[in-house]
Amino acid sequence: MKFNRRTHTCGELREENIGEKIVLNGWVDTRRDLGGVIFIDLRDRYGITQVVFEPNYNSETHKEGSKLRSEYVVAIEGTVRKRPGDTTNANLPTGMVDVMVDKVILLNEAKTPPFPIQKSGDVNEDIRLEYRYLDLRGEKMQKNLLMRSKMYNSVRNYFNDNEFLEIETPYLMKSTPEGARDFLVPSRIHRGKFYALPQSPQTYKQLLMVSGFDKYFQIVKCFRDEDLRADRQPEFTQIDIEMSFVDQEDIFSMVEGLMVKLFKETKNYELETPIKRLDFHEAMERYGSDKPDLRFDLEMTTLNEVFKDAEFKVFKDALANNGIITGLLAEGCGDYTRNQLDVLTNYVKQLGAGGLIWMRVKEDGLEAPVAKFMSDEEKQGIIDTLGAKPGDLLFIISGSKTQSLSIMGSLRLEMAKRLDLIKPDAKPALLWVTNFPLLEWDEDTKRFYAMHHPFTSPNLNEVDKLDTNPGDVNARAYDLVLNGNEIAGGSIRIHSADLQSKMFDALGISKEEADTKFGFLMNAFKYGAPPHGGIAFGFDRLAMLFANENSIREVIAFPKTSSAASLMDHSPSDVDEAQLKELFIKIR
Ligand code: AMO
Repeated sequence: MKFNRRTHTCGELREENIGEKIVLNGWVDTRRDLGGVIFIDLRDRYGITQVVFEPNYNSETHKEGSKLRSEYVVAIEGTVRKRPGDTTNANLPTGMVDVMVDKVILLNEAKTPPFPIQKSGDVNEDIRLEYRYLDLRGEKMQKNLLMRSKMYNSVRNYFNDNEFLEIETPYLMKSTPEGARDFLVPSRIHRGKFYALPQSPQTYKQLLMVSGFDKYFQIVKCFRDEDLRADRQPEFTQIDIEMSFVDQEDIFSMVEGLMVKLFKETKNYELETPIKRLDFHEAMERYGSDKPDLRFDLEMTTLNEVFKDAEFKVFKDALANNGIITGLLAEGCGDYTRNQLDVLTNYVKQLGAGGLIWMRVKEDGLEAPVAKFMSDEEKQGIIDTLGAKPGDLLFIISGSKTQSLSIMGSLRLEMAKRLDLIKPDAKPALLWVTNFPLLEWDEDTKRFYAMHHPFTSPNLNEVDKLDTNPGDVNARAYDLVLNGNEIAGGSIRIHSADLQSKMFDALGISKEEADTKFGFLMNAFKYGAPPHGGIAFGFDRLAMLFANENSIREVIAFPKTSSAASLMDHSPSDVDEAQLKELFIKIR
């Protein structure tokens, strides 16, 4: 046995090893000196083993042991013994035994780390990110990345079993905007020209369908220069999927199979399928979101019918402008103070609402500043429609449809938080949201944008409306939602060049622009493109939810901050003048 090569990991020793001579390698986690006997918890990614330096047992190694400090890297040779008396530790898998040290080799010293390795949870995130390699040494991050690694395996096994091919696609590609801003890479060889990093492999995977690879998947990095949030990184990972000769149902059942396997193998949870489905328009009306959190009810209710003859100007205007009056019942909140209601009013105002109408439900009707503007019939109508009881509180927001619904949707989430409606042991709530609008109107640029991407097929029975009222056309697009997070999105694609050019017309993209940007795809479609469709998962988001974390940074080894910087290697950074010159770039 070579002395310093480990025979076991620090998570491995059990009672059956008692009496064995073993070697462990690892980091000094903690060191306790109890009246001459030194106990060290030795750590590696597999666990922790207690090793003991006793002067009576071996005075030489005891002396060595007294020099060890936190995070020193050591090899110890010793003999496994049963922990004496009541010193066993049931919380530790190795807790029945410890190791009497016969020999110790210091493999490396360590500076005192900037934070205790196992307590990084209490440390400012900037410091954790600056010393990410130490942060990753702690139990939590080790657990998260181990889980993530297992998830890659489950995904690859699943797609292999289902005859998918994993095909890599380029990272240096043509700039073909997909909704976010591109990261550009200047070309040295082609002066003044740029590659773009893919926002997703969307066009490539569609080309692979034209090539006949009818089942493709890839675990792939994507790059988007957009405003970052807890669930967004400038580079993130997708599980990218595309299939030929399929419709939406085929995609759904393939994805549901993947979810069943991932839940089983990652969380040991038996997921029930089929996964619930909700039409986009219904999701917006009932939950004010295209990614509703269904771990709790708290549904919104449209009150347009109640107020169809309203005199109250706010409601009258909303209805006249094709808007909406939406209500939310907060059961048992009738005792909210004026102050609490002001806070909620400010909350919705910050989101852009004109105001928040609230009403307390009393034995003898509704109590609210605005109650005087409503007829008795209307007041009774609200109570009946929302199913309100004395002691409840109700909210109403009115105005343009999309905005009012999504603001009420945010209030729904806020109230769920205040009312503690999301229980820690709530079942995971998965949901397909279907039938998204094809296009989205942008007031600033006064044009339509593709809600998903320009290759998404409209519902085939709505194609004619593309010419007359494009805003009303729905798409064969779908998102998968888990606990209120969009974890995947996809669509059945347009596979005919004709329909694609109709789509470009609706988007106000000229033939020349379409040719320059997407000509290669349009050309390919002329050579026998099969009907096809697909989906992509946000892998980081899925891992975040499986790890019960609130930020995808907790499941990414080396993430960027919310201002897209790496605090560890200081990127982005200045580059040499010579490098810029070579790329024909001048910084203004
Ligand atoms: P989409 O743009 O919806 O679809 O992206 C798919 C999924 O990727 C995740 N995601 C992100 N995760 C972390 N950081 C980001 N910046 C980020 N942006 C998106 C989300 C999202 O649901 N090509 C299409 C897929 C298709 O049609 O097949 C696409 O990329 O979880």
